[in-house]
Amino acid sequence: MNEYLPGPRPSFMEITWRDDLSDATGYVVIDRLLRGVASGGLRMRAGCTLEEVRGLAQAMTKKEAVHLLEGARYVPVGGAKGGIDFDPRSPLAKGVLERFLDSLAPILQSYWAVGEDLGVRQDDIDEIFERRGWGSAIAPVRRLLGDDEAVAAADARLAHAFSQRIDGISQDELVGGYGVTVAALTAMRARGIDPVGARAVVQGLGSMGGATARFLSQAGVKIVAMVDAAGVVADAAGLDVEQLLAARDAFGTVDRTRLPAGARVLPGDDWLSIDCDLLVPAAVSNCIGVENAEQITASLIVEAANLPVSAQAERALAERGVAVIPDFVANSGTNAWWWWVLFGDVDGSWAESSAMLDDRLQALTDAALSGAERDGVTPREAALALAAEGLAAIEEHDRMQATAEGVPA
Ligand SMILES: NC(=O)c1ccc[n+]([C@@H]2O[C@H](COP(=O)([O-])OP(=O)(O)OC[C@H]3O[C@@H](n4cnc5c(N)ncnc54)[C@H](O)[C@@H]3O)[C@@H](O)[C@H]2O)c1
Repeated sequence: MNEYLPGPRPSFMEITWRDDLSDATGYVVIDRLLRGVASGGLRMRAGCTLEEVRGLAQAMTKKEAVHLLEGARYVPVGGAKGGIDFDPRSPLAKGVLERFLDSLAPILQSYWAVGEDLGVRQDDIDEIFERRGWGSAIAPVRRLLGDDEAVAAADARLAHAFSQRIDGISQDELVGGYGVTVAALTAMRARGIDPVGARAVVQGLGSMGGATARFLSQAGVKIVAMVDAAGVVADAAGLDVEQLLAARDAFGTVDRTRLPAGARVLPGDDWLSIDCDLLVPAAVSNCIGVENAEQITASLIVEAANLPVSAQAERALAERGVAVIPDFVANSGTNAWWWWVLFGDVDGSWAESSAMLDDRLQALTDAALSGAERDGVTPREAALALAAEGLAAIEEHDRMQATAEGVPA
């Protein structure tokens, strides 16, 4: 059931898939269709469950709905998610991915626009779609653009956007972490924390964690620890982020023989108790629960990962005055950026993309914090009210369109 948005309701569709040739199990949840389509990434990790995928699909609906903006060309769509319970490092992983996509092809071509998530690379998805002759992985959303000319212009903008490199790094690898950074800097300022010299711990050195650490550090924040699947790398004086990121492998694990001078290695479980002002979980879901939340020293948590903090832990943290900027606001930059570029709200350049992220993530973070203060609720609850408002407006628009087309109610 959808615990947040109005009218608790089951998902529109849930599918369980079993692989013929391995022990992989996969799940698809279409939380709801808006404008006839749903969008959301596909992850692969050992232990992935239907419940996790359902929570992620619901989060996608919220992540879309908060970005409804009057006058914008991008009008949000519904949320979806896929998950495969399988080790992405296995030599069999690519075959599992291909068979999963093959089984889901009719849905992917009609209403689920898919992208990469944890353990799955966009290049692999695109390569499979191309080899199979299925067209674009986001075809259902592209159809909303209208005529061939509009589609060609959108494709050109996307190609331009994905060709952009900033300091040698591809723009699509940066936008998500840039958005998280804007949310974090906005929240720090709102809560009276000067970002310059403030201390942050970032869990995850992949696309999200890597880019977030890079931009926070450029803003003067001291990254006192980063955490990967192998444990913690810490330096109370501030890590050399670029050097640390240069020592990562393709899975975001740091080579411990190439650590920056001054860096110490600590066990993974120590990550929450490190003294800091800002905590950015940017790796896995469900890593902060009531059992470990009391170790947290930070007064601000910005969720770069999806669903990292349990609802119970968030309540306990709120009682201690710790603010959590929710995932569906803080990490919404990647998803929104794709659609801003596709629909033409930005031209795909870094100048326009970063300016839009500055505007939108700042406005949403400010609205979540000021709504929380005004109504005596958490920033998540305040942001949920924004999502619910957006959702109601889009659903009403869909209903009116269906009536105009003579579709029976
Ligand atoms: N990539 C995006 O654009 C995007 C957008 C929105 C949300 N997210 C969410 O952000 C999170 C990270 O995504 P990503 O694309 O950066 O992943 P990634 O695969 O690029 O990187 C994951 C990082 O997490 C670390 N990690 C894995 N297991 C860990 C553990 N148990 N403890 C500590 N660290 C661990 C890995 O070592 C790696 O550094 C996920 O929750 C994802 O759903 C990603």
